[in-house]
Amino acid sequence: MSDNYTVVSLFCGAGGMDLGFKQAGFNILWANDFDEDATITYKNNIGNHVVLGDICQIDSGEIPNNPDVIIGGFPCQGFSVANTKRNMDDERNFLYKEMLRIIDDKKPKIFVAENVKGLLSMEKGKVIDMIVKDFEKIGYSVNYEVLNSVDYGVPQTRQRVIIIGNRIGVDNIYPDKTHFLKDKKQQTLISSNNGLKPYVTTKEAIGFLSDVKITNNELLVGGREIHNHIASTNVSDKFWARKHDVDQAQICDYLRGWRDSSEWTTKKIDEHFGYKHTAGHWFRKDNNSGSIPNPDDWWELKRILNFDDKYDKQVTELIEKEIVFEQSLRITNWDKPSDTITATSPEIHVNKKRRLSVRECAILQTFPDDFIFYGSLSSMYRQVGNAVPVLLAKKIGECVIKMLNQYVGD
Ligand SMILES: C[S@@+](CC[C@H](N)C(=O)[O-])C[C@H]1O[C@@H](n2cnc3c(N)ncnc32)[C@H](O)[C@@H]1O
Repeated sequence: MSDNYTVVSLFCGAGGMDLGFKQAGFNILWANDFDEDATITYKNNIGNHVVLGDICQIDSGEIPNNPDVIIGGFPCQGFSVANTKRNMDDERNFLYKEMLRIIDDKKPKIFVAENVKGLLSMEKGKVIDMIVKDFEKIGYSVNYEVLNSVDYGVPQTRQRVIIIGNRIGVDNIYPDKTHFLKDKKQQTLISSNNGLKPYVTTKEAIGFLSDVKITNNELLVGGREIHNHIASTNVSDKFWARKHDVDQAQICDYLRGWRDSSEWTTKKIDEHFGYKHTAGHWFRKDNNSGSIPNPDDWWELKRILNFDDKYDKQVTELIEKEIVFEQSLRITNWDKPSDTITATSPEIHVNKKRRLSVRECAILQTFPDDFIFYGSLSSMYRQVGNAVPVLLAKKIGECVIKMLNQYVGD
């Protein structure tokens, strides 16, 4: 019976993954995180079984025995491509060892770990190999897949590595996609799309909150009880911008002229820089809009193509400018699924002079309306941004139930 299957949850955060597993039919016995606000949110929404504390200090004797499944999104900052200190010496990279320790002690039938996609490229793949081997050594049959939430009906592009391991001799099962990108080309394919539904857009998910004034008080909007519709109104940022006006097309055509009269092909230039298709944009291939190299690349390009000084100033002189919300590149998508909701400052609302509210982020992470977050604004943003989208977690949970149902042993 699926509702008897039990879970121990490590690094549970506010409980996105746990709620999804609960919705799939699991009984969560014990959960842990060392972020106090996250545990308060967890307690108020999921259950009292959450324990506040550093996992490194918790003896497995304190954790219930015989869980069917152990789940955990071990911290990913150390692994993230966004983090420049991404290396194997970062002690956060070894928190998965805590998960390994507890899994080795508790011997669940199945474990599910979640992480950022950057994990796969870390140390040229050595880190993921090490993780897989470590779990294999303690008796699990392990593999992983990169899942994009948007393919499962979440109104957000969010790619995560899901690692599943089992010691019960079954195949690890990952969810089938339920949604697809309906672009011009694919519209003609709708009828043959095997019942897949189009991606859910940001507007469809949070459009109803656009004109609702931000407040942390409870609201009733279109029959929905809304909490945490609170947002940062800091929508300006400093950034490095070009000091002078530039005409991109003109500069790209100029670069193409210099390339044509040199020995260099676009392919060779890409190889020289270690890029895949970047140089094609610098030279405005097929007269499509081009993009100007960044200053470092400009100087290197100049060295190899030996062009004159005509555009040096325009391209390389930068000044710090204030970026205001109308100009921000980080304005959220509206007619597409949103970009990844992050744990720090969320994107700026497409029509408003504010960032997305905690509730808007929570909806894009498929938290239900009655799931209320606690803590300061930045803490709530962090809890929401750290979470596995509930809907994706539910679908993963359903796969784990299928695996457990195939097991005929003890
Ligand atoms: C990516 S988040 C997990 C989010 C969660 N899976 C969800 O769906 O909501 C990682 C969590 O690990 C917690 N964490 C980091 N180091 C920890 C430690 N040493 N002990 C306990 N929790 C820790 C962080 O506080 C954070 O909430």
